[in-house]
Amino acid sequence: MRPFVFHNLTKLYFGEGQLQQLAKEADKLGRKVLLAYGGGSIKRSGLYDQVLGVLAEAGCSVVELAGVEPNPRLSTVHRGAELCREHGIDWVLAVGGGSTLDCGKAIAAAARYEGSFWDIVSRKASVQEALPLGTILTLAATGSEMNSGSVITNEETQEKHGWGSPHVFPRFSILDPAFTATAPKDHTVYGIVDMMSHVFEQYFHHDALTPVQDGFCESVLRAVVGTAPKLVDDLANLEHRGTILYAGTMALNGVLAMGTLGDWANHDMEHALSAVYDIPHGGGLAILFPNWMTYVLDDNVSRFKQLAVNVFDVKDDGRGDREIAEEGIRRLREFWSSLGAPSRLADYGIDESRLEEMAGKAAPGRKIGHFRKLDEQDVQNIYRMSL
Ligand code: NZQ
Ligand code: ZN
Repeated sequence: MRPFVFHNLTKLYFGEGQLQQLAKEADKLGRKVLLAYGGGSIKRSGLYDQVLGVLAEAGCSVVELAGVEPNPRLSTVHRGAELCREHGIDWVLAVGGGSTLDCGKAIAAAARYEGSFWDIVSRKASVQEALPLGTILTLAATGSEMNSGSVITNEETQEKHGWGSPHVFPRFSILDPAFTATAPKDHTVYGIVDMMSHVFEQYFHHDALTPVQDGFCESVLRAVVGTAPKLVDDLANLEHRGTILYAGTMALNGVLAMGTLGDWANHDMEHALSAVYDIPHGGGLAILFPNWMTYVLDDNVSRFKQLAVNVFDVKDDGRGDREIAEEGIRRLREFWSSLGAPSRLADYGIDESRLEEMAGKAAPGRKIGHFRKLDEQDVQNIYRMSL
């Protein structure tokens, strides 16, 4: 196990009725709030009215930033930061899916940064301070509600990158399974693929003797594999929504990463894909991850065998380890397909014309990933396997 520091700064309110805690948090953070939300799902679900009701009772004045797009854009971050400066905003409240939360983090930091926020995303500069941020999550997927990461797209250059800072950990996040119950099937499934992918990114490492970490990862995966089919058949079921919501948060709040060096190449490859084609993040991962697994399998067959046996119930019946490992990858493909996730780039109408360009964006003059370090050619090979 590697040495590590763990310090998560987010206070989590989970479960029915927790929206009322918003008033208490507003008391602490100030009366001038920037409310950021997406394309309108919170209005249709009624959450928007509930949030405004609690904020009004708490005596807050609210400035709105509507229309944060899936794969949130740099221009929207700048628009939000401008609103914060213009109205003397005390704190940012992001209500929605991971895109809205990520945009909220970027706005909170951009409001305290002179210059283009792309300086931060491209690591030319680092965040020195940020407005406080609170979140209310409506889609179980990214883990953004309890981490310090954010992913922003520069629509002009078609680049999409993650950045992070301890200054943008949400001060609080409110998670009520009921707020996620209106998520349609496709986005529910993308979220499930995303959270499983987060576990895989952390599970595939070469560190030895990590039974506690392995058990945590496998536990999250088994719970998702067991619950997802039931949820997809019964999208309004709040018990299943709750399990998936909790799994999504645990998958990327730092707990699973303690003491190990995860991989993360699939996220770099997917971000290049959705930067160019603006597809949903989870859809891209569903296509890429099984192909990456096949590509790197021989680097650590026993790790893949462990996944097959402990998560996908493949029998350890004396066959060769490689055969068992391959069956695990096959079962993952079948599992995601059974939920309705895409499995080929062609499912999004993507052909080979821009594979080279995307590989250049994913691994720009450097190798990505730790399980196996991938160069541009490797990335191109994996894209090609995914056509
Ligand atoms: O925009 P609205 O109208 O709210 O609709 C959204 C959007 O169209 C809809 N939706 C969300 N909750 C809903 C709902 N519709 C009905 N009822 C609800 N309760 O779902 C659509 C997708 O939302 P989005 O926020 O884009 O999805 P997701 O949560 O998957 O976020 C994806 C973004 O997060 C980044 C991705 O790259 C992508 O940009 N990631 C962020 C991470 C992080 N901060 O740690 C890690 C991830 O790996 C990921 O890269
Ligand atoms: Zn992800």
